[in-house]
Amino acid sequence: MEAAAAAGREARGRAASHPCGPGEKSPPDSRKVYMDYNATTPLEPEVIQAMTEAMREAWGNPSSPYPAGRKAKDIIDTARENIAKMIGGKPQDIIFTSGGTESNNLVIHSVVKHFHLTHASEGTRAEPSGPLAGAVPHLITCTVEHDSIRLPLEHLLEEQVAAVTFVPVSKVNGQVEVEDILAAVRPATCLVTIMLANNETGVIMPISEISQRIKALNQKRAASGLPVILLHTDAAQALGKQRVDVEDLGVDLLTIVGHKFYGPRIGALYIRGLGELTPLYPMLFGGGQERNFRPGTENTPMIAGLGKAAELVTKNCEAYEAHMRDVRDYLEERLEAVPSAAELWHPLRRGPERTPAQRGPQHHQGRRGRRRAGPEAGRGAAGGPGLAPRAPHGRPSEGCARMALFLSCPSLSFVPASA
Ligand SMILES: Cc1ncc(COP(=O)(O)O)c(C=O)c1O
Repeated sequence: MEAAAAAGREARGRAASHPCGPGEKSPPDSRKVYMDYNATTPLEPEVIQAMTEAMREAWGNPSSPYPAGRKAKDIIDTARENIAKMIGGKPQDIIFTSGGTESNNLVIHSVVKHFHLTHASEGTRAEPSGPLAGAVPHLITCTVEHDSIRLPLEHLLEEQVAAVTFVPVSKVNGQVEVEDILAAVRPATCLVTIMLANNETGVIMPISEISQRIKALNQKRAASGLPVILLHTDAAQALGKQRVDVEDLGVDLLTIVGHKFYGPRIGALYIRGLGELTPLYPMLFGGGQERNFRPGTENTPMIAGLGKAAELVTKNCEAYEAHMRDVRDYLEERLEAVPSAAELWHPLRRGPERTPAQRGPQHHQGRRGRRRAGPEAGRGAAGGPGLAPRAPHGRPSEGCARMALFLSCPSLSFVPASA
């Protein structure tokens, strides 16, 4: 295991240099450290190999019944199995999507549609009363979600087809409180969507605790004819950094994003008991692929790469996590030695569980490599606007500019980053 992980680190270290923008002076490659792994990660060499092979040898249409098609179909089946294994789910509960944005939008679209179809008759002449007469579906999220959750929800609010509660996270530790989620539940609540790990702080949200409370609540709601509350988590920033298991988390739906764990820029969605326990309504209609839940001719090379990246996570996750934790702790120790940085760092260090790759330090290099870290600007994590605390509807609050970290041996400084 350690040998495999060491090989992985070695390979990843080689892939980690990052081009400078136009007009910027580029330090020599040996002095560059790419520090924004929450934004994206380079492709693992084995992933590139799997994708290249699929492009060369499995170009057939996976829906074709003859050998060229069957070859592509086998690759897709294997990838689906590997993704299911990575999260402790069943292959039949995985569908491929174009990425995290699509997976998140699909979840929201689906629960709203299900609510409207299931409760449409309440409040009509045929069924004039009922606990949900005249209600629109209600969804609960928190104020630090990625835009691919926040914006579709804001859109639904604007269109008045759903009600949404944005639960604020703790200003002290960045976590959402389980009690606050429970307090937001209404009769028409049909979805709680809370990310597993935040893309900017790395703070891990209490998903299993939320799940246990919602399960207990669902039993009572069923007796009163109220909709089941589904639990979704966007696991984009947790996969590859810590073990993720859908049974332990107790989630109904989980978003997977390949390019956050050394895979390609596609994604997947886990749906517990797809179509039987958990309904899913497609956003697209077409040629029947992905059992009609997400039609469109499959992108075999990308799926092959995603499957390979998932296989590597399953094989090496413990070693990756231990190594990243070591690098993170080392970075934080050094930051604490700088008085102006220590002020900013302490609250999170004392705070809740975080992913080991919080703020995305370059986690593949050995200690020697880290000491040689060059002046790479770690601008902007994860390509979104600045982090929590946000105003009620999730807009970055004024005067709370995100800090980007510039490491430049031997000096170190914090600068506000423009989102
Ligand atoms: C937490 C989280 N969710 C979803 C996404 C969206 O992924 P993509 O832009 O690949 O669709 C990202 C990407 O930054 C993310 O960090």
